[in-house]
Formats: sequence, structure tokens, C-alpha cells
Amino acid sequence: MAIYTILVTGANGQLGWELGQLAKSYPAFKFVFVDRSQLDLAFPETFEKIMLTIKPDCIVNTAAYTAVDKSETEKELAYTVNATAVQELARISKDLSIPFITYSTDYVFDGEATTPYATSTKVDPVNYYGSTKAAGEKMAIEVNEDTIIIRTSWVFSSHGNNFVKTMLRLMKERESLNIVADQKGRPTYAKDLAIATMKMVEAINAGKTIKGIYHFANQGETNWFSFATTIKAFAGLTCNIQPIETKDFPTPAKRPAYSVLDTSKIEQDLEMDIRDWEEALTACMKAINAH
Ligand SMILES: NC(=O)c1ccc[n+]([C@@H]2O[C@H](COP(=O)([O-])OP(=O)(O)OC[C@H]3O[C@@H](n4cnc5c(N)ncnc54)[C@H](OP(=O)(O)O)[C@@H]3O)[C@@H](O)[C@H]2O)c1
Repeated sequence: MAIYTILVTGANGQLGWELGQLAKSYPAFKFVFVDRSQLDLAFPETFEKIMLTIKPDCIVNTAAYTAVDKSETEKELAYTVNATAVQELARISKDLSIPFITYSTDYVFDGEATTPYATSTKVDPVNYYGSTKAAGEKMAIEVNEDTIIIRTSWVFSSHGNNFVKTMLRLMKERESLNIVADQKGRPTYAKDLAIATMKMVEAINAGKTIKGIYHFANQGETNWFSFATTIKAFAGLTCNIQPIETKDFPTPAKRPAYSVLDTSKIEQDLEMDIRDWEEALTACMKAINAH
């Protein structure tokens, strides 16, 4: 049987790294992980040549410009990485007739809903990062209607930079912290998203038609204050955490007040159960302690 090669971009990011940890559990696939030094999304004109060397059977694009606040001032780079490069990867995947999986964000939505956002809800981003990701979604689907987009939210992992690790550090360094309590969302363990991604690759390999937009996040919803309080409790720390309002914590990029994703489509199409975010957080904190 011919070897099926999966090209994964963003090898050093949270999701790319978690896919790297999982790779050995999928001996039927050959994984090629590339970081920024091997495939730089700021230079889409270089992709075609790189693909000739790697010859992928599937592209999983986890790399992205994820600095939400910085993107308000580094607009050109954020747009190239999150929109132009995603379009070019989608175009190349169409040319090669191979599946293309890329990721987007809850920040494509306006934040004004009161019930979870369906995959079909109209996008209306409130910040520049969200608008680059929304543009990337649209441009990729325009050039390759088979593009698979997985929107996710509030990603954490034992690897990389994220809210969980920042909180653990700050709670040890400081006696008290003020955390925003009026933004609601669904935390996502990057490991669970990596497993869902591999389920998708396997389903595609088994001949199942999967395309378009999906949402993936762990079950349940919370706000940043409650998330921080749970991290504190699980870690047995004593830092005093105070809830504050978004208006008292100004940031360069506006955040949506409500960005809970409805994940029912991926659960149905992949016949999968998604665990609660608290259970996923426990697993992640175990992994952090084991490091
Ligand atoms: N993190 C979240 O909370 C969150 C929320 C919603 C959606 N998402 C989406 O989920 C996906 C995975 O995110 P993540 O959490 O794994 O992100 P991450 O941990 O921030 O990792 C992003 C990776 O992209 C790489 N990258 C940035 N610019 C690049 C460039 N020009 N060329 C090549 N690589 C580049 C980074 O490389 P370096 O290591 O060299 O910097 C990093 O390894 C992304 O599409 C992201 O937009 C994330």
C-alpha cells in the first residue's frame, strides 16, 4: 500500500506540537512536520516548490498569525499569513487533488449572540485578527470548495503560550489577579483538537465526504474569570482572583462578549463525543506537571 503523507505546518505551535505527539499512534501515515524556517506563511509564492519536494497526500495547516492584539498594528503580515497563504494552500491542494484542513476561530463572530454559534451563522468579526481569519476561510473555499475549515476557541496545551500556563505562572508570582468575567466561550485542549483532526483524516481516507466548515471545542462554556478560578482550584493555589468587566481591561483588539461554538456538526459527522473542558483541563494540567 502506498504511504499516505500528511504535511503539518506550524510544528511548534500548540496544535502542531500536539499532532506531533500523536503521530506515533498513527503508523499508517507518514507525517512531515514543518516549522516557520521550512515553510513560512509570509511567503506564499514559495509553497509550490516546497510541495514538489514533500509531495503531500493531505495538508493540515495549523500555522497562523495568532497574536490577536499585535495584528491590529501588524496588519499586512497578519493578512498574508491568515488569508493569502491559506488561499494559496487551498489552491495547491485543489491542483494536487488532496484534502486541505485549516483552522479558524470563534473570533470570526460578532459576539452578540446568546446561544451557540452554528457553522452556518454569518461571520462579522469585531477585530482585525478575526477579519483575517474570516477572509482566509472565504478565499480558501472560493478557490477550493473542498477545503475543510475547523473553527476552534480558547486553545490550551501543555506546550506553547496559552491562558492556562499564563495563569499558573501569574498565580504563583502574584497575590491577586483581576480577570475578565463578561466574555463567554468554550475552552479547547489542543490535544483533543489534534485527535479530532486525525479522526477527520481517517474518515476522509475511508472514503467519507467531509468538506466545509466545522466547529470544535470542548463541551461546556465558561468565562475567563471562572476558567482562571478552576485552574487555581485544580492547581491548589491561593492567589486571590477578582472578576472585572471588559471595559476595565482595555486591549488593542476588541474581544467578542460571547463566542460559544456549536459543535454538533463535527460530533454527528465524525460520530464522536467531545469531553468537558474541565476534564480536558485536568488532563492538560497533568501533562504540564509531567513536563
Ligand atoms: N490559540 C487560540 O486560542 C486559538 C483560538 C481560536 C483559533 N485558533 C486557531 O487554531 C489554529 C492553531 O492555533 P495554535 O493555538 O496552535 O497557535 P499557536 O500556538 O499560536 O501556534 C501558531 C504557530 O504558527 C506559526 N507561525 C506564525 N507565523 C508563521 C509564519 N509566517 N510561517 C509559518 N509559521 C508561522 C508559529 O510559529 P513560531 O513558533 O515560529 O512563532 C506557531 O508555531 C490557528 O489557525 C489559530 O488561528 C487558535
